[in-house]
Amino acid sequence: MASSLIISLVFLPHVFHRWGHIHLQTYDALFEIILYNIVAWVSGTLVQAERKRKEELKKAQQELIQANKYKVIGELAAGIAHEIRNPLGSIQGSLEILRKDYKAEDSKYEFLNILLKEVARLNKVITDFLNYARPALPNLIETDINQMISETVLILSPQASKKGVGLKTELDKSLPRIKADPSQLKQAFINLILNSLEAIEGNGQILISTLQDKNSVRVKFQDTGKGMSEETKGKIFTPFFSTKENGAGLGLGIVERIVQNHKGEIKIESYLGKGTTFTLFFPIKGDK
Ligand SMILES: Nc1ncnc2c1ncn2[C@@H]1O[C@H](COP(=O)(O)OP(=O)(O)OP(=O)(O)O)[C@@H](O)[C@H]1O
Ligand SMILES: [Mg+2]
Repeated sequence: MASSLIISLVFLPHVFHRWGHIHLQTYDALFEIILYNIVAWVSGTLVQAERKRKEELKKAQQELIQANKYKVIGELAAGIAHEIRNPLGSIQGSLEILRKDYKAEDSKYEFLNILLKEVARLNKVITDFLNYARPALPNLIETDINQMISETVLILSPQASKKGVGLKTELDKSLPRIKADPSQLKQAFINLILNSLEAIEGNGQILISTLQDKNSVRVKFQDTGKGMSEETKGKIFTPFFSTKENGAGLGLGIVERIVQNHKGEIKIESYLGKGTTFTLFFPIKGDK
């Protein structure tokens, strides 16, 4: 396009040199020059658009190849994790049988206890990983969130009181039922309460409250734990990120997946040394 303009400019004096001699030819020549420039401009634009399209296509293809690679790696890892879980079950069963041969005072009994604990930990990591890598689609039914909270609190109360942590609820009685998967919600609530329990050193409080917004149901988990730095806050949903010695770093990834599966949202507030609040929002109409 630029070259056609340059050529035209060079050619122009030649045209005007003839100005006044044969008018009609001069106009023709000028018209031709303009026409050539228009054609050059149109074809230049088309070539540029085509080049851009090709670049975009190449980029999209590369992204697809990369995404497929991650998918394949994820599937492979999930397959291996699944295979590890079966022998772990047999190891656990055998250890329990072996332990019966020893008295509680025996040092071997203690060793077997350690082995059983470690097997249970491996099992948890594998199960969490599988939950994360192969999330089941939610089976949505009319669900009473307050009831899910009460059931979860009942499960975790012994663990909380053993630690000296108060587990309190403030449930909005007029909360509407929502379309949700009760077992997935319970899993998310357990992960959040466990995190709060683990964040509290010494005595503390966990308050779980429910509230109805205009279009959503709000579930708030408030703890008086050690809180998080801004840096930690930015990484908590990254798989395998953990600040704990024995943490797999998958708990919140699973919570995020579950909330996304319910078209919900998560809000986090955390202050170092003061505590953390996770608020989950679930749309009242699940299909929104
Ligand atoms: N309530 C909380 N208070 C303070 N820090 C928290 C809280 N919840 C999460 N975190 C931080 O976020 C990190 C990631 O949490 P996540 O539940 O994903 O993994 P984890 O608890 O370390 O391991 P696990 O897989 O056993 O749950 C934690 O290691 C911790 O640093
Ligand atoms: Mg956790």
